Amino acid sequence: MQNKITVVGAGNVGASCALYLAQQELGDVVLVDIVEGVPQGKALDIQQAGAVLGFDSKIVGANDYAASAGSDIVVITAGLARKPGMDRLDLLKKNAEIISGIVENVKNTSPDSIIIMVTNPIDVMVYLAYKKSGFPSQRVFGQAGILDSARYATFIAMELGVSVKEVNAMILGGHGDSMVPLPSYSTVSGIPITELIPPNRIKAISDRARVGGGEIVKLLGTGSAYYAPAAATVKMVESIVNDSNHLLPCSVYATGQYGISDLYIGLPAKLGRGGVTDILEVNLDPADKQALLNSSEIYQKSIAEVSDFV
Ligand code: 2OP
Repeated sequence: MQNKITVVGAGNVGASCALYLAQQELGDVVLVDIVEGVPQGKALDIQQAGAVLGFDSKIVGANDYAASAGSDIVVITAGLARKPGMDRLDLLKKNAEIISGIVENVKNTSPDSIIIMVTNPIDVMVYLAYKKSGFPSQRVFGQAGILDSARYATFIAMELGVSVKEVNAMILGGHGDSMVPLPSYSTVSGIPITELIPPNRIKAISDRARVGGGEIVKLLGTGSAYYAPAAATVKMVESIVNDSNHLLPCSVYATGQYGISDLYIGLPAKLGRGGVTDILEVNLDPADKQALLNSSEIYQKSIAEVSDFV
């Protein structure tokens, strides 16, 4: 049987996710959005792209959750995006309200689904989804680490003039300016970048990756990035659908790992058919460990601000 994958939110991120999902034939796709006509129009457009690109996944658009009932995976992208000068945390209350309503619907119509949160601030919204859905934490987690690490990998490849294909970069922590790039766990063909790039340049690249989303928000003038965020999300779906067990940085529910509990934060996790099948604890430099704890504290405070919605 085909996997059924719902994408909530037919904006740029949601529609790009739907396109990549269909293109990779990861399942049948339902695109849900409250705006009448938009999910239906984009779904039809993507379906017609299949005739040229050669994919058979079915894709439909809908304004309610009936069409998405019984989904295996629900990707949530709906909500407001940042405008220049805004921090992801500025979106907090507005998006908390939107996410609460969506999760209620998902819980009722797709009670066995895996939820992947993409709406910002991801680490807070995913916590909200976890509490609101009552699903086990293995089935509720957030995108972000793959995107942040992809930006880091891109800048590493640009710096060294090498193919990005052999670059493996790792960024942990929250999806915000407090994220924690890990140069000693970032490699080119297995060689740590600390052996290849001088410290001052590593710092510059790490800093650029840390504010990589903001760089794009500034350039676009309105809205935020979507091609890479969608690609990162679909990588997670692929790992689940194919039970690939990719080890990826994702926003997962910590239960004591790295000294963090009852909080969602970017940690290295294995993703398979059941969702998060493992969270790995690796040695971190004391400074990186502290940075990870500092990052968690920021999200702990934000969670307290949306406690009304939980
Ligand atoms: C980004 O980093 C939208 O948060 C997303 O581009």
